[in-house]
Amino acid sequence: MALDTRLSRRSLLLASGGAIVGVALWPGAGAASSESTEKRLVAAPGLAPIVGQPSPQTAVWCYNGETPGPEIRLQQGSRLRLIAENRLPQDTTIHWHGVRVPNAMDGAPQVTQPPIQPGGSFTYEFAVPDAGTYWYHPHAHSAEQVGRGLRGAFIVEEPQPLPVDRDVVWVLGDWRLEPDASIANDFHNPMEMSMSGRIGNTVTINGRLQSKFSVRSGERLRLRLINAAPARIFALEFKGHRPIVIAYDGQPIEPHVPEGARVVLGPAMRADLIVDMPGDSGSTAPVMDTFYEGLSFKLVELSYTDDRPLRAQPLRPPTKLPANTMPEPDVARAQRHDVTLTGGMMSGMGMSGGMGGMMGGSGMSGGMGGMMGNGAMWAINGIAARGHDMKPMLILARGKTYILAINNQTAWYHPIHLHGHSFRVITRNGVATRYQEWRDTVLIAPRERAEIAFVADNPGDWMFHCHILEHQEAGMMSIIRVA
Ligand code: C2O
Ligand code: CU
Repeated sequence: MALDTRLSRRSLLLASGGAIVGVALWPGAGAASSESTEKRLVAAPGLAPIVGQPSPQTAVWCYNGETPGPEIRLQQGSRLRLIAENRLPQDTTIHWHGVRVPNAMDGAPQVTQPPIQPGGSFTYEFAVPDAGTYWYHPHAHSAEQVGRGLRGAFIVEEPQPLPVDRDVVWVLGDWRLEPDASIANDFHNPMEMSMSGRIGNTVTINGRLQSKFSVRSGERLRLRLINAAPARIFALEFKGHRPIVIAYDGQPIEPHVPEGARVVLGPAMRADLIVDMPGDSGSTAPVMDTFYEGLSFKLVELSYTDDRPLRAQPLRPPTKLPANTMPEPDVARAQRHDVTLTGGMMSGMGMSGGMGGMMGGSGMSGGMGGMMGNGAMWAINGIAARGHDMKPMLILARGKTYILAINNQTAWYHPIHLHGHSFRVITRNGVATRYQEWRDTVLIAPRERAEIAFVADNPGDWMFHCHILEHQEAGMMSIIRVA
């Protein structure tokens, strides 16, 4: 029955061709704001000064001629109507990462829409129910398309903005560049796909290699960090500063200084920080990325201007942002499902054993080696995805609370993302998390277990996958249906 409905919806989509206007009413936000924004995003090849002089510009893929694409900024509850045009040499779609859109607007190719063909277009139209920091990116060939620069910030403002001196967005990008600043063409290297994913050699803030970020003594920033890298994980340390996390993945959290004052962001994850600038005028302080052992580097330097301090007294700690509109999961009565992640090389980066046994059947974890050929290297509950269109792994009843007990049996990190919902991360390795934080992407360490809880309130077929994009393309993806 359910399958029939799905098939007919799909053939309807396919029959009506490229341009489809979605009917998108989110029940939680339908009445909140009558404001509506019209936009056009054109995905096309372009040039960008990623490294800067004297290096030449880099041939990249852009939205509206830029990488990252233009920032989309809306008021909570308002509506967006956006025409996406594809002038790339391959199919694309746009996914609104973390925004709880209606299923037909979600940008999952073959599942929620036909892919946008070269020369074609698609109209996305939806309301934004929740405030916060989100982002957009293609969901077709995404390892290559995000890797070539297709990504952008998507900011939904609270009705009452937080009092800060500046609201700053850092879209973190990671590129693999040749010495002449061109993008290395080595996408889909099987060894990398079965290990950490394609990690680059050039980390950018808002599409540029940056050495300095100018700040003023005494000012307070709201810094919205977006990890838009295909595979790189960040752990940022603001030396001499105490960033306070006020939101993860757009969702408010009790304001707190993260463990070790380190802000950890797996691919696709976001953090909203309050950063006060206590340094002296004219001083500098590095922002270090210390995630990969032995590979720390300076992301950028906070460079204090010579202006006199903006205020004499430090500000009071920030208060918690108002809650978003997700229903509260009823954890006591939740139904629990096990989700097991397997595959990849047996050894993690920096672990002994190195590259031994790579790609051979015996080198794959979870006994999957023999079953997974043809580029399928990772699996969720024993199934390696081959493209988006697949049988749902789980069928959830609309309105009920579910716990997914995710067990990472691999030797690698996986940032696991569920479309269409935000969830609470309730335990890690069986221990209750301190903040029971809302997220849409949870970073799970090698051999770690994490439980997430949510109300399955958004009907449709939702992608559930690893956001290391090479892992996603090499099988670590499934569908969760809310019916
Ligand atoms: Cu940010 Cu399924 O994606
Ligand atoms: Cu992964």
